[in-house]
Amino acid sequence: MPLTALVTGATAGIGAAFARQLAAEGSGLVLVARDTARLESVAAELRAAHGVPVEVLPADLTDAEATRPVLDRLAERDRPVDLLVNNAGMGLKGRFWQTPLADQERMLALNCTSVLRLSHAALGAMVPRGRGDIIVVSSMAGFAPGSRGSYGASKAWATAFAESLAGQLTGTGVHVSAVAPGFVHTEFHQRAGLDMSKLPDLMWLDAPAVAATALRDHRAGKVVSVPGAQYKALAVAARLVPRNAARTITEAFRRRAL
Ligand SMILES: NC(=O)c1ccc[n+]([C@@H]2O[C@H](COP(=O)([O-])OP(=O)(O)OC[C@H]3O[C@@H](n4cnc5c(N)ncnc54)[C@H](OP(=O)(O)O)[C@@H]3O)[C@@H](O)[C@H]2O)c1
Repeated sequence: MPLTALVTGATAGIGAAFARQLAAEGSGLVLVARDTARLESVAAELRAAHGVPVEVLPADLTDAEATRPVLDRLAERDRPVDLLVNNAGMGLKGRFWQTPLADQERMLALNCTSVLRLSHAALGAMVPRGRGDIIVVSSMAGFAPGSRGSYGASKAWATAFAESLAGQLTGTGVHVSAVAPGFVHTEFHQRAGLDMSKLPDLMWLDAPAVAATALRDHRAGKVVSVPGAQYKALAVAARLVPRNAARTITEAFRRRAL
């Protein structure tokens, strides 16, 4: 039986790359984002290219009421969602105190609360079924203390959340992993108003490679996936370097490159 994957933030960047790869493998899809016209356009492209069933579920995941249909779809027993990709996320420009509180709250609602809500709904159906998969799109920023203010903190939460679920779910047949990409060419930085022109080329990843690595590592049983050799090395360094030194290094990098 073909599998069904629900991908949030599926109209751009890493989410669209997940959707394209999964559709190419023959997976049915449920695509979630806010922009209905863009969702319909991606859905039409994937149906035509791969002949898979594609549903669209427009929703602003920062809004509890608007998220309700997504939770209901994840909870459906007779139309199971086999894989949830918690991908939608956002960043912000500027120091924490210089950014409007409402924007900070919106970012936390998307990067953390919506991941919590969707995972809760999905697991309520997956655990009794004895199978299912969840991938949380986190970030290298979650490993680097102090690097990106509340964005980095939200991604530290996302990685820790996925790791803790992976432990709790041992033996249930349900698997959870986090993928922690570095900088990826997507709409993310433009949406946040970040100038990335000083970032060296070797620090950039491509969205299709990130999605492919995340899926491959998840299927191999890895709980935390780090795409790209350069970021694998940095992830090891982040574990070995004392946290106060890591804070100094990441802040120096931020001032130079961002
Ligand atoms: N790009 C990077 O360098 C990078 C690095 C590490 C981690 N990440 C993480 O990767 C994930 C995907 O980012 P990306 O770079 O692919 O971003 P992107 O190109 O900006 O795409 C964001 C996607 O999320 C959707 N979205 C945004 N706000 C939403 C909301 N409130 N409700 C529902 N959907 C929403 C967008 O569609 P609509 O606007 O139509 O809603 C779009 O489909 C995020 O979690 C991000 O933190 C990105």
